[in-house]
This record gives sequence, structure tokens and C-alpha cells, in this order.
Amino acid sequence: MKTVGIIGWRGMVGSVLLERFRQENDLEGVDVHFFSTSQAGQPGPDLGGGAPLLDANSADQLAQMDILISCQGGDYTKEIHPQLRASGWEGAWIDAASSLRMMPDSCVILDPVNRPLIDQALQDGIRDFIGGNCTVSLMLMALQGLFDAGYVQWVSSSTYQSASGAGARNMIELCKQFQDLGNAAAAQPAATALELDRSLQQRLQDPSFPQEAFGAPLAASLIPWIDRAMPGGQTREEWKGMAECNRIIGREENPVPVDGTCVRVGSMRCHAQAFTIKLTRNVLLDEAEALIRDANDWVELIPNEKEDTLQRLSPAAVSGGLTVPIGRLRSSLLEPNMLHAFSVGDQLLWGAAEPLRRMLLILLERI
Ligand code: HSE
Repeated sequence: MKTVGIIGWRGMVGSVLLERFRQENDLEGVDVHFFSTSQAGQPGPDLGGGAPLLDANSADQLAQMDILISCQGGDYTKEIHPQLRASGWEGAWIDAASSLRMMPDSCVILDPVNRPLIDQALQDGIRDFIGGNCTVSLMLMALQGLFDAGYVQWVSSSTYQSASGAGARNMIELCKQFQDLGNAAAAQPAATALELDRSLQQRLQDPSFPQEAFGAPLAASLIPWIDRAMPGGQTREEWKGMAECNRIIGREENPVPVDGTCVRVGSMRCHAQAFTIKLTRNVLLDEAEALIRDANDWVELIPNEKEDTLQRLSPAAVSGGLTVPIGRLRSSLLEPNMLHAFSVGDQLLWGAAEPLRRMLLILLERI
């Protein structure tokens, strides 16, 4: 029986991963061990039978595992992964963090889209399997049909990214911001819209407004900056769009240009994206629709109608589910062979935990 070690299972991505393992009963018959960076020796979660937590800072203990899954974050990966490999550990490392995504001997995993590349990587002896950036994975789940057909000349993606992408602390802060504004509104039950607007604006600009995590108000506002600055004016989140998309689809030598502006908005855990897609040729809308609809089991084409859009194409409709709806699909007025579309997906599922979970299953099937 193979041993599997899980690190970082208390954070947002780790918790959703464990929830998925429970729902699908994936760990039945698997010798699973839970690690902690701070509470080694204390009782672990029920999925591991409550066995004492192992020490996530001990390369010796980690090296006892055949497969390790880390949702602990990039700093942890940077510290522990080189130690483990230097010690001669040859197990499989599955990771949600970005640190190893661009390493030549890693494979970025999104199996509904790149299963042949994952199989090739396994054959080639690759042992580091890294989940992709959430917006990139969700874009590829939505647009796979067009990419697979070779119809995408370039994509501009403008994102509407949820608080969960920034972490648990940020989700809590967003709720505090909503609450703060709600209290200000509730204090003036008979106010006009303009009076309400004035008092909310006062709260948004007051230094006591909760914003330690985001550095700015998000509720009743937005933040058009995610991650750090890159040369050339992009943020790192925007840079990942092209770099990771082409790595996942195996087009690093002949990359499809992907660029756009990444924006944090006040949704809790679903990222959304507006796409402008330049096609390599004339594609009838019917054909584009069929390609998109049939590409994988999770993409859902939403008719470009108001009712369907309101009911089915929003974070409120999608949160907690695995479907990746794409709608508002239409030909563009800007240029021939150009489409517009809009997609939503749960950032914590397809954008983070689900590819890791499925990679574990792929590995368990093989060994
Ligand atoms: N970088 C993403 C975000 C998180 O900030 O929304 C998931 O990759």
C-alpha cells in the first residue's frame, strides 16, 4: 500500500481538498498521514483516523511517504522541497503553490485539458506535479474546445477575482467590510440613495475601515492589482496568464499570446473572466459553441440570454460546484474572427484543489 502525506490541510485550499476527499471517499484503502509545521504530535483529522500529526519540517519523516501533497504555500515549498530531493527522495510531490510551476522538471496539472502531457511526464520520470494558477486553469476549462481545435490566435482575459484567491484572512476581511457598510446603512433607515452613498463613501475613506489584508476597500469597490509588479507593467497574476496557459497546453515553444487586466472584486470564492478571443480562422458561432460545449465534462455553455445569464452565470450560482459555465458568447464587432465570452468557476475547486485531488488518483492508479 502506498503512503500519502498531506501538508497544509487547514488552509483554504487544503480544507476544500479534504472536503472533496470525504465527498468522493478517495482515501479509502490509502495509507494517509497528516503533517503539521506547528502541531506535530497532536491528534490529526478523522481522514487519517485521528493519528498523531507528523512533523512537516522533518525531511526524514516526509521522506517516508511515497506521495506528498502540499497546500502549505510557496515559502514552505521553497524551503522543504530542495531538502527532500537532495536527500534522494524519489516520491511524487503534488503542490498547489506556484514556486515549482516553471521548473523544467515539473508538470503543471489540469488533467481534463492536458492528460496526455501528464502521462508523458510520468513516463519521463517527472515527479513534481503542480496545480496551475486559478484563473489560468479556469480559462482553459472554459475555452478548451477552442484551444484543442487550434482556433485560438490570442486571448485577452479581464478577470473578476474573488476574495478566496487572496486567502482565508482576506475572505474574513471582506465580510467585515460588508458588515461595516451594512451597519452604516442600517443606521439611516430612511435615507435617500444619495445620503446612503455619502455615508458609505465616508466609511470607505475612513482609516478605521477594515483593510489590513487587502490594503484597500474591496466591498462596494474593487482592486485592479493582484500580486506583485513585473517588468513591463503587468502584475504577476497577469504574467501567469500567458506563461502558465502555454505550459499547461504544451505550447511553450509556440505560445498563444494571453494578456489582460486582473482585478479583485467582492465575490467570495468564484473567479470570473471576460474573454476577447481572436480566432485563427473564420469559425461559425454554432461550431464554436459545439466545440466549447463538448470539450470536457464540466464546462457548461449558457445561452446568451438575460434569464439564463442571471440564473446560471455568476459566482452566486456557481460557488461550491464543479461546473464551469461560459456564456455571453457572441461574435465581436471589433474585428472579423473574434469572439467575446464570459466565464465563471469556483477558484477553490477547479482553480486549486480539484487538479491536485485528481493527480493523486492518477498516481494511485499507476503505482
Ligand atoms: N493568485 C490567485 C488570486 C489565487 O489571487 O486570486 C489562485 O491562484
